Amino acid sequence: MLIGKNIFLTIRVKFFFFIQWLKSIRYYLNLRFLLFDLLFSLAYFFLNPYRISRKFLEKKFNKKIYDYGETPIIEMEKMIKFFEITSNTTFLELGAGRGKVSFWLYFFFKCKVIAIEQVPIFAKIACFFIKLFRIKKIEFLCKDIFTFAFDLKNIDIIYLYGTTLPTDKIKTLIKKFRKLSSSVKIITISYTLDQYDKDFITEKSIDISFPWGKTKAYLNIKGEKKCI
Ligand SMILES: C[S@@+](CC[C@H](N)C(=O)[O-])C[C@H]1O[C@@H](n2cnc3c(N)ncnc32)[C@H](O)[C@@H]1O
Repeated sequence: MLIGKNIFLTIRVKFFFFIQWLKSIRYYLNLRFLLFDLLFSLAYFFLNPYRISRKFLEKKFNKKIYDYGETPIIEMEKMIKFFEITSNTTFLELGAGRGKVSFWLYFFFKCKVIAIEQVPIFAKIACFFIKLFRIKKIEFLCKDIFTFAFDLKNIDIIYLYGTTLPTDKIKTLIKKFRKLSSSVKIITISYTLDQYDKDFITEKSIDISFPWGKTKAYLNIKGEKKCI
């Protein structure tokens, strides 16, 4: 019974990735992105990101933790369009994984990206590709988002796909976000910031799909305090 369920899940996930890949074929008309993605995928052909993340977390917490996932770029494009995010903005990706979203934002939206990720090998490979493709607009830092004092100055959009973050960790990030101006947009996946702090407002939401199922992406901003 369990084996049958596992086979069904594996087929479902593979089918999801196949459909996403078909939908993303048009991105490969951009030859620089095509070359980047070929080399990037080749590098990760031998290094499974899910396994790398699991090993890293196993070492850190001394238990098996399956915490890795990636935002399909088709879904990212959907969010960018629906949330009316324009090119030439500065993105901060908190927990960037191997950086697929960050690179895509750079190639297709000409955004400046600051990506923060705790797994050293993800950061090393991303930095290698930044050098190889002479990308000046991506800064990839190997830091812990909870302890690193990242600079929120000049940030326009923050992307946080941290569906497994515990409440206390989300609240730690919210404390940092409190310093933001109300023009900064924070995209969260599957929860809103106003669930944790009433100083935040949910402006918009959109349905999006991940290999594990459907959820919502939210556009949060900090509410302006009205002086009476
Ligand atoms: C669900 S993945 C999302 C990856 C990427 N943002 C995407 O959407 O494709 C979450 C990532 O956050 C990273 N992460 C979790 N806790 C972190 C921390 N304290 N500091 C830095 N990165 C962290 C994990 O290592 C993982 O790569």
